[in-house]
Amino acid sequence: MQRIFLIGYMGAGKTTMGKELSRRMGLSFIDLDHFIEGRYHKSVRQLFEEKGEDAFREIERNALLEIADFEDVVISTGGGAPCFHQNMEFMNEKGTTVYLKATVEELAKRVSLSKNTRPILMGLSDTDLELFITDALKKRSYFYEQAEITFDAEMMETEADIIALGKQLESTLSNHKK
Ligand code: S3P
Repeated sequence: MQRIFLIGYMGAGKTTMGKELSRRMGLSFIDLDHFIEGRYHKSVRQLFEEKGEDAFREIERNALLEIADFEDVVISTGGGAPCFHQNMEFMNEKGTTVYLKATVEELAKRVSLSKNTRPILMGLSDTDLELFITDALKKRSYFYEQAEITFDAEMMETEADIIALGKQLESTLSNHKK
């Protein structure tokens, strides 16, 4: 039985890599944010706006508890998920955690176009975005670095990059003994 959790900051490519990896490995794919949105019939942005971040983190924790029982699955988590309610510890108990790591510049470039759908980044200018991410990573790296595998996700521009990275991650996972 395999259960793989992809973690990392917004824009790290968790959903893209999760889909590719699950396809390669013949596993199911679940995106934690999409699971929550389906459950509540609301976007993550709406949940943040209506209930506030603390309530969202509770919802996220409960959804994670539920999903973490699924078998033969690749799970991509929201960027904040590992940093609240001992979720990192929990994911390490339940499966194999992979931190998709990229530089601040690359993350900022990737989220720049979609920042208005991401409640935490809404309204930030591109300059502020880099500063904001630098600061966030200072706090969040402590959690992200508890992942069993840290994987370089910097080069993810083309379809070919994604396929190559998926192959590399699959091989890293097959050599990884839990
Ligand atoms: C968040 C990341 C988002 C989503 C929410 C909060 C965060 O997920 O869960 O907007 O705190 O980093 P993605 O990392 O999939 O964008």
